[in-house]
Amino acid sequence: MARYDCLIIGSGVAGLSAALQAASWGKVAVLCKAEAACTNTNLAQGGLAAVLSPEDSPARHAADTLAAGSWHNNQAVVKLLAQEAPHCIQALLRLGVPFDTDEQGRLALGLEGGHSHSRIVHARDQTGFHIQQKLLEAVKQSPNIELLEYHMAVELLLERREEKSRCVGAKVLDLVNNRLKTMGSGAVILASGGAGQLYQHTTNPAVATGDGIALAYHAGAELADLEFIQFHPTTLYDPGKAAFLISEAVRGFGAELVLPGGTPFMHQYHRRGSLAPRDVVAQAMHHEMQHLQLPCLFLDLRHLPQAQFAEKFPTIAQKLQERGIDVRSDLVPVVPAAHYMCGGVKTDLWGQSTLAGLYACGECACTGLHGANRLASSSLPEGWVMGRRAAEHAAMWRQPLVNNLFPASAEVALALQEGEVAATALAVKQQLQKLMWQWVGIVRSGEGLIHCQQQVEDLYRQAENFSTCLPEVLELKNLLTLAKLVIQACIDRKESLGGHYLKSAPFARPACTTVLSQLI
Ligand code: SIN
Repeated sequence: MARYDCLIIGSGVAGLSAALQAASWGKVAVLCKAEAACTNTNLAQGGLAAVLSPEDSPARHAADTLAAGSWHNNQAVVKLLAQEAPHCIQALLRLGVPFDTDEQGRLALGLEGGHSHSRIVHARDQTGFHIQQKLLEAVKQSPNIELLEYHMAVELLLERREEKSRCVGAKVLDLVNNRLKTMGSGAVILASGGAGQLYQHTTNPAVATGDGIALAYHAGAELADLEFIQFHPTTLYDPGKAAFLISEAVRGFGAELVLPGGTPFMHQYHRRGSLAPRDVVAQAMHHEMQHLQLPCLFLDLRHLPQAQFAEKFPTIAQKLQERGIDVRSDLVPVVPAAHYMCGGVKTDLWGQSTLAGLYACGECACTGLHGANRLASSSLPEGWVMGRRAAEHAAMWRQPLVNNLFPASAEVALALQEGEVAATALAVKQQLQKLMWQWVGIVRSGEGLIHCQQQVEDLYRQAENFSTCLPEVLELKNLLTLAKLVIQACIDRKESLGGHYLKSAPFARPACTTVLSQLI
């Protein structure tokens, strides 16, 4: 059986920064169920929010985070992140991340939704890609880190002593050799990302199936705030094609959300207009689309300096051009899509879950930073800060495990499975995604949630009969577990708050409340 001091599940910004920190005190393995760069971090166009100008302050950053999160946040972690985010930028600069600078050579600071000050650091519109590359380069150079691609954790191993459980490793499916392995470890850090694949329309990659959250749940760790799913307001509307994000930074650059005739509408909903917090924008768009019976709304970029737009957002500009959209004369059709899970494995300020030896950081964790709705560009700094803190704390578990905790023959060869089960699993997943989009989307209702709960229970029972270790089936089971938990969390929360909007329960929040409760 392979043994490590620290086993990290996931290879985005949280997992890799945790690995670099843990490598300073022990032998580390990083598991990725696909290629190491196949992460949400890699896709992140938008940047990192940090207080870097003398006119700004950590107190203002913290106040914006709390307002965006509907004051459901943990204030201690909000304060911590506002203080730590500038250190994250410095560390990433030292690794060589090419953040944009202004004419004076200072970091260029952009504006995004919910921020009262320009404080977003970007590397054009490929910020996450550059961070992923630089962190991976550093990880590959570390003699203490083993990067295991195509390895999927399927169960957390627990040691039980006197009624107390401790996480001591994981059962892992080696997808290359089709073998089930046991990996012992002093501590386990979950950094496995979110679960955008719960939804029919999502900005997330196919790997975002909530695996770490489901593993933690089955091992008995506490979860929190699962009802707060964030929908990103602006993905390109292109039916039948994978969602493509139009970064919020484009609205920060001056683009406006408009109705088909080109009329802006967001100021009816919030004083910050198109740059209101994401929950407000997505809910307002949902309302307008329902009211006007439209499949999408539009972003107006026609008034922007076009050369600068193309220079700042080369990936987005190219994608729009490929799809035949001329931003000088055309409005860009956009729709909201599932983007981020604000809840997850409940942790303290050191990333400790309620299960000894188990940590969580990044999107799979619920530190309480985001409250009921995440502030734009806060996930990359959170991943970096909390990944490092979790790994620093996890050093306390480094002592070796007892010898005969697990059977010696812990590697089991698996029989290869036929494609039929995978095809059925895909069909069930698609049904689940449609149900979640329809009933557990931007606007919810009590009856809709109960209806969806029954349908998801049926799908769950169907999937229980799939007795294979195919990754598609394991992912489906994780998604179904999480869907049940998300729906229950939605049913339990009787008021509208942040990303959880119930038709029947008006918001207590002043801005969007009046209009939405009158019109929906
Ligand atoms: C974006 O670029 O709009 C996404 C950034 C984020 O999710 O914070």
